[in-house]
Amino acid sequence: MDQNAILKMRGICKYFPGVRALEGVDFTLRSGEIHALMGENGAGKSTLIKVLTGVYPKDGGEIFLGEATNPAHIRSPQDAQNLGISTVYQEITLCPNLTVAENMFIGRSSKPLTNWKYMNAKATEILQKLDIPAKAKQQLGSCSIAVQQMIAIARAVDMECKVLILDEPTSSLDEQEVAKLFTLMRNLKEKGVGIIFVTHFLEQVYEVCDRITVLRDGQLVGEYVIEDLPRVQLVSKMLGKDFDDMAEIKSEEDTNRIDYNSTPVYEAKALTGTTGIKPFDFAIHEGEVNGFTGLLGSGRSECVRAIYGADRVIDGTVRINGENVRIRKPLDAMRNGICYLPEDRKRDGIVGDLSVRDNIILALQVMKGFFRPFSRAQAEAFADEYIKLLNIKTASSNTPIKSLSGGNQQKVILARWLLANPVYLILDEPTRGIDIGTKVEIQKLVLKLAAEGKSVTFISSELDEMIRTCSRLIVMRDGKVVGELKGSELNQNTIMETIAGGES
Ligand SMILES: Nc1ncnc2c1ncn2[C@@H]1O[C@H](COP(=O)(O)OP(=O)(O)OP(=O)(O)O)[C@@H](O)[C@H]1O
Ligand SMILES: [Mg+2]
Repeated sequence: MDQNAILKMRGICKYFPGVRALEGVDFTLRSGEIHALMGENGAGKSTLIKVLTGVYPKDGGEIFLGEATNPAHIRSPQDAQNLGISTVYQEITLCPNLTVAENMFIGRSSKPLTNWKYMNAKATEILQKLDIPAKAKQQLGSCSIAVQQMIAIARAVDMECKVLILDEPTSSLDEQEVAKLFTLMRNLKEKGVGIIFVTHFLEQVYEVCDRITVLRDGQLVGEYVIEDLPRVQLVSKMLGKDFDDMAEIKSEEDTNRIDYNSTPVYEAKALTGTTGIKPFDFAIHEGEVNGFTGLLGSGRSECVRAIYGADRVIDGTVRINGENVRIRKPLDAMRNGICYLPEDRKRDGIVGDLSVRDNIILALQVMKGFFRPFSRAQAEAFADEYIKLLNIKTASSNTPIKSLSGGNQQKVILARWLLANPVYLILDEPTRGIDIGTKVEIQKLVLKLAAEGKSVTFISSELDEMIRTCSRLIVMRDGKVVGELKGSELNQNTIMETIAGGES
């Protein structure tokens, strides 16, 4: 018997039609530890959590809580909550049209929503304590994704909990916000809470976690103390093969190929949006991969949204291959060969009820026109090609996208834009939520597209990813372009200094 174990899952099995999501998995959580649950996209992490929290009934195995020798019965999320198990899911499951306070208290059996004044005051107190930049009476939907995520966490930790589960909570947070979350996690750990932490960020695992459990294809690979498992070994356990490190993938050739004196593929002058960014100039050349960087909220996504016509543009000129064009809406951009993978895929990307196949061919179909649908065979051929290329884990191309794991849904949306075969591709956080093996594959793919003469703009919160793929970085701060870095300036220190700015 493991001393201090507050949760023991034994021999857990879970099957979906055609998928063995979990096969005899053991998992042990101690009180006062932060325990990483790791594995590739589709390994079964979210499913294990959903079984634990009563979202899915299990097909085998037992769950023990505390010292109990009799298995616990967790048949609904409410049961789990009553037993002190709180969860923040990978997909934000709050209601955007309710207020922040309502979202924090709704559906909590112990404290019914009768006293609005009390509720708002209490919410304000919690928001302050956790340093979350939101107001109790504000509509949740008006907060950034990062803030919504933090509110979901606030909701979870405010409930009396012994076990806190965080399924990829940091994927939309910037560095400072992650630091705040870690402080919060360490406080809870001190108080004896056991925390299950799912993430694809290896550095974060080594920063806060005590132990790691690795899953692969629905099976347990092993449980390790963090000190005993160096990074490279962790990665090879996740992938089930040796991993030829994550060294430089960009070659000299990738950078030298670009002719900065040629007519840009896309060029904007004094482009002025309505979303708070300052007018900016921007150009990208044939075969170039460049990127916008800056803290979350610095305006990096707003810039690319203005380029694509996703947000209203009120002034400025745009030239494509030297010709003046007007881009007022996304369709204008698409017709000019510009495609955009948005940051908030839940809102702007995934059509949950459609199949993987239909989600993949969507953009191409839009460009062709809905009155000229692709034949089933053609659509299937497209879908199969990209399922293979991006290693998308799905029972078939006919499966509804919503039953895929988070990272695999992400890959489907990426496939959609690759299939559209744009001249200029804008990718906002394309590898968020994607496991490390596939991440490198996507980076290589971006460089390959560039080598074929395409232009790509890349946004990522992970600096090393930007350094590995981009030849030029545009640095943003407070809605303004504050620097442009190339060549030897593309290193962690210079970028961070530019983001932070000199003493002013
Ligand atoms: N509701 C569902 N219906 C059918 N299949 C499902 C369902 N939920 C999950 N699966 C399948 O179970 C497997 C495990 O998925 P799970 O979501 O647990 O992966 P994960 O480890 O959380 O991956 P990620 O890192 O991408 O979030 C996947 O093959 C997935 O397609
Ligand atoms: Mg998941």
